[in-house]
Amino acid sequence: MNKGTILSGMRPTGKMHLGHLHGALLNWKNLQEQYRCFYFIADWHALTSEYAHPDIIRQSTYDIIIDWISVGLDPEVSTFFIQSEIKEHAELYLIFSMFTPLPWLERNPTYKEQLTELRQKDVYTYGFLGYPVLQAADILMYKANGVPVGEDQAPHVELTREIARRFNHLYGEVFPVPEVLLTPTSKILGMDRRKMSKSYGNAIFLTDSDEEIDAKVSQMITDPQRARKSDPGDPTICNVFSFHEIYSKLETIEAIRNDCPSAKIGCVACKRMMAASLKQGLEPIRAKRRELASNMERVKEIMAEGNTTSRAIARNTMAEVREAVKV
Ligand code: TRP
Ligand code: SF4
Repeated sequence: MNKGTILSGMRPTGKMHLGHLHGALLNWKNLQEQYRCFYFIADWHALTSEYAHPDIIRQSTYDIIIDWISVGLDPEVSTFFIQSEIKEHAELYLIFSMFTPLPWLERNPTYKEQLTELRQKDVYTYGFLGYPVLQAADILMYKANGVPVGEDQAPHVELTREIARRFNHLYGEVFPVPEVLLTPTSKILGMDRRKMSKSYGNAIFLTDSDEEIDAKVSQMITDPQRARKSDPGDPTICNVFSFHEIYSKLETIEAIRNDCPSAKIGCVACKRMMAASLKQGLEPIRAKRRELASNMERVKEIMAEGNTTSRAIARNTMAEVREAVKV
């Protein structure tokens, strides 16, 4: 039976945090069981916004691969690759750019939003406008049937669908039209209750030490209505409680559900319990991380193998594309 192909990627612009874990990565991990999965490092995409300080890209590439394996993405089951190692992506991107109408790119809501958000980075460039065309090349190169992404990326995948249809219409059926698989948003927020993000400085990283976790948890905003310990709290709107629900034992969760609204437990004690559960829950990931970080040769080997597998597929697709386009 053909299991169908899944592909997704991440830009290497920093280390993985709990937002990535509970948003994308655990979802990717589950998909491995049902599909042929490709997960890749979108380093050319990172260059679209980080072109002035590219050092972060190389550094985070290996950090991210180590994180992926540590959380249970299995290189024996899924294929990992690095975008810039598969030069065929650049050729397919160029061909797609010939027939992608400019208005499709200019009206893209994610593009418009990022232009304003990333103003200090000066992303008013040709490469940044073409970002989703490169993304279409990533996806279609492996003839993916499904692309698991967050809501912000959905317009890009919609564009991929339009590019696939337009290619097939102009040159004959080569590409499947991939589905967007929306990743449910993570219930976990950053320490300040905004979405967890490196750029907000509110994230807990998979690489954080026990001391860093303790310090960050103690700063977390809880139920904002609860100013004093004697005030009743509401766990259902408390981010600390969301962490408990993922990382603590059922008895602990039940106890807090009872004792917080009756003000029998205070936030300081509640946070201390949560930090303990979190550290314990992350320990297997951190242990695996330490093991891999001390065996970089193995990590590089894993990447080289994934790159080789992916390159072979990319070569096949490009042969078909050149045949279809006749250039
Ligand atoms: N744009 C994606 C992000 O920022 C990364 C990405 C690049 C991607 N190419 C992709 C995701 C292809 C899915 C499929 O998160
Ligand atoms: Fe949140 Fe716990 Fe404080 Fe209740 S006691 S408000 S669940 S931190």
